Amino acid sequence: MHLLWLLLPLSAVAATDVNDTLLWGPYRPNLYFGLRPRIPQSLMTGLVWFGAQDYQSISKARHACDQGDGITNYTWTEYDTREGGVQVINDGPNNVKITTEFLKVAGGDHGGSWAARIKGKPINPDVPSHPSLIFYFGLEGLGGIDMDTDEDENGLEGEIKFSGSTPELDDFTIRIVDGPDNKHVTEGKHAQKFEDRIGKTHFLGQPVSQGGIWQAKELLLQNIIKRAQEILVPYKDVAAGPPDPSFVLQLPDEVYTSSNLYAVQKSFDGEFQFDVFFESASSKQKLSSAILDQGIPALVASYGKRFQSAFPFPSDYPAAKRDSLEGFSKAITSNLVGGVGYFYGTSIVNRKFSYEWDEDDEAQPSDDGETGAKLTEPKALLTATPSRSFFPRGFYWDEGFHLLHIGAWDNDFSLAILKDWIDLIDDDGWVAREQILGEEARSKVPAEFQTQVPNYANPPTLTMAVTAFIARVKKVAESSGPSDQDLGMGFGMGAAQERLSKPAQHGAGSQYLESPELARAFLQSIYAPLKRHYDWFRRTQRGQIKQYARVARSRTEGYRWRGRSEQHVLTSGMDDYPRGPPHAGELHLDLISWMAFFTGTMKEIAEFVGETEDATSFGEIEQAILNNIDDLHWSEEQQMYCDANVDQEDESYHVCHQGYLSMFPLFLGLLPSSSPHLGPMLDVLRDPDQLWSPYGLRSLSASHPLFGKDENYWKGPVWVQMNYLALRSLYKNYAAEPGPYQARAQEIYQQLRKNIVDNVYKEYERTGYVWEQYDALTGQGLRSHPFTGWTSLVTLSECLFGSTAALRLMHTL
Ligand SMILES: *[C@@H]1O[C@H](CO)[C@@H](O)[C@H](O)[C@H]1NC(C)=O
Ligand SMILES: *[C@@H]1O[C@H](CO)[C@@H](O)[C@H](O)[C@H]1NC(C)=O
Repeated sequence: MHLLWLLLPLSAVAATDVNDTLLWGPYRPNLYFGLRPRIPQSLMTGLVWFGAQDYQSISKARHACDQGDGITNYTWTEYDTREGGVQVINDGPNNVKITTEFLKVAGGDHGGSWAARIKGKPINPDVPSHPSLIFYFGLEGLGGIDMDTDEDENGLEGEIKFSGSTPELDDFTIRIVDGPDNKHVTEGKHAQKFEDRIGKTHFLGQPVSQGGIWQAKELLLQNIIKRAQEILVPYKDVAAGPPDPSFVLQLPDEVYTSSNLYAVQKSFDGEFQFDVFFESASSKQKLSSAILDQGIPALVASYGKRFQSAFPFPSDYPAAKRDSLEGFSKAITSNLVGGVGYFYGTSIVNRKFSYEWDEDDEAQPSDDGETGAKLTEPKALLTATPSRSFFPRGFYWDEGFHLLHIGAWDNDFSLAILKDWIDLIDDDGWVAREQILGEEARSKVPAEFQTQVPNYANPPTLTMAVTAFIARVKKVAESSGPSDQDLGMGFGMGAAQERLSKPAQHGAGSQYLESPELARAFLQSIYAPLKRHYDWFRRTQRGQIKQYARVARSRTEGYRWRGRSEQHVLTSGMDDYPRGPPHAGELHLDLISWMAFFTGTMKEIAEFVGETEDATSFGEIEQAILNNIDDLHWSEEQQMYCDANVDQEDESYHVCHQGYLSMFPLFLGLLPSSSPHLGPMLDVLRDPDQLWSPYGLRSLSASHPLFGKDENYWKGPVWVQMNYLALRSLYKNYAAEPGPYQARAQEIYQQLRKNIVDNVYKEYERTGYVWEQYDALTGQGLRSHPFTGWTSLVTLSECLFGSTAALRLMHTL
């Protein structure tokens, strides 16, 4: 046993959720292509490229995904968590289409081997394309790497080999091998001066201090530029001008002692290909280009098959659209799954900060004598990322949505992610809503947003992943026949509802779905921290009822987001949605709705793990909350649900803004189908002057005076995850259950689903990207892109929810 094992957080080595097939992945999704294992400090790889057709193009060197770099589009077109995948990057400004293929090769005792192929061709064959690519790998933590191939000051030919070792990966080799038909720039200004170097692979080995590998691109480019400056000196006054840049923009062909960062650079003329092999020594299998030649087409074919069974094509879509829509769904699903990252590092927490309206809270964070913002101990997290370019880190409330989608593809992978989040729940029950772990992650976040505060919450979506898992376990149990007794668990209403959705096969095999014991053990292991988390919400986000003579059936169930400012309630997730003025007596409709939902899901989990007393008590709390949503938040005059606030005379009043907020009880399925409030809400939902647009539901009513104003973040634009909640609730509740509004709910469901799917797809075709949000009046994609976080839920809207025709049929069965 190596010493380092003792230093690792338990989650990194716990046997239950570590599966060899998940050790390696493109877990640096902030990079166009960055592989690493799920180990806190270990090997990190990356790819840098630029076009060497002119000297300026080195300023267009690519490494980290960046919205500003003018890349035409990029996405994993296939990505399977267990096998690997294919990514296509169309770099218009550098005139090169790059394909990165990644194939996992199981075997041995240290997480297996892998092969990667990087290939490319000109986008426009009529203009020069001289791509120069640098593949690098650097080691953080213990261990070492050496270059086995003999150095040559003019560069190397043929296969290049490195060998290394770390405590977790044990011994390994890395080999870089050229494809069969590569061409190089051989002619050009002053070519004869560079004859010895043309067509060779250039290299660098350099020592980098701990924690510094993420800055590899800057280090490598500095080396190239420094060398180029020296070479160019004698050409200053030469009439013919400087040499062709592809002869000059090269790594210096040196390996310094104690190097832990190695890079190889290959420059081409036109189409190219090279392979990188990582071989774990404990695996007997020797990798060669043949494994990629055969493995990648096989992977693409099997991915396609499994995709069709996991996300069956909806029967109500025209067959003519099938291929293009399916390619789109595959791409956004793959980019979500291929956008999962593994992060490790410190974060910044301020235990003392509070706004004046939060100051009287009884439940202030524990007083440990610290003041100001402090760095925490390093933590590890496997998490999906909302946007590889703009939000390449973990976000709490996004993650519940991500896991619904990921879980439908690979259940066990979604549990591994969930487990990492659960491990972040602290002793108080708090989890920071943004996980900005380490310097690389921090480099992408403005300073004012880096600090997390331990009494700030975020919509509790993680339990969605838990109840979705329970639904899958139940479905497997039903189809394979064991009775409730065999499982020793009571089945609630959820199972009947879940049966409505199409019987999705899971993309990957699942140990947890195959073994009820394993499933239950997993749920039991997360139950206590989840409950602590739930208790933290109830304790720290409580609102005041009695103080303002509010009349409500429960004297305790009212809630208020902490940490809001005058203009924003960032903690709610709907940052600039209109609210009343900040006041300690505010009550927030969305938060009490989330608490009803959280309580309901906790009840379901408690029932499933056999915590019957807890389940009963959750049931009572849930009912009290549901009562209070009507008692505290329904405005009879306005016929809508509202926030509540307190005026100068200490009188409670409603703060009403028609939009996503007023729809929360419907979106989260908290109203019975017979509720008289449903009618007026569905009218607003369907009203083109209010929420309804041909592109989905608007966040704020088009008739609201603040519609489209100020930052216009949550003041009109269409958000896919909220539309997903609406669809899900209509599908499961109001369109499914008989009631006075069923027919209307079915009509809205069907049309809304089509609007959302069609518009996101149309914008993808038009722009090459899926977007964070869509314009409320034109449907155009807005803000960050690609945004293959919750926007990718269109795949579920398309596939897992059937048409209402199918729904009606199932109800008559
Ligand atoms: C990893 O998990 C997959 C799916 O759950 C399973 O099929 C496979 O056998 C597991 N592999 C190992 C080495 O445990
Ligand atoms: C991505 O860009 C390429 C090259 O311009 C283009 O052919 C392709 O259609 C684009 N893909 C999408 C989805 O727009």
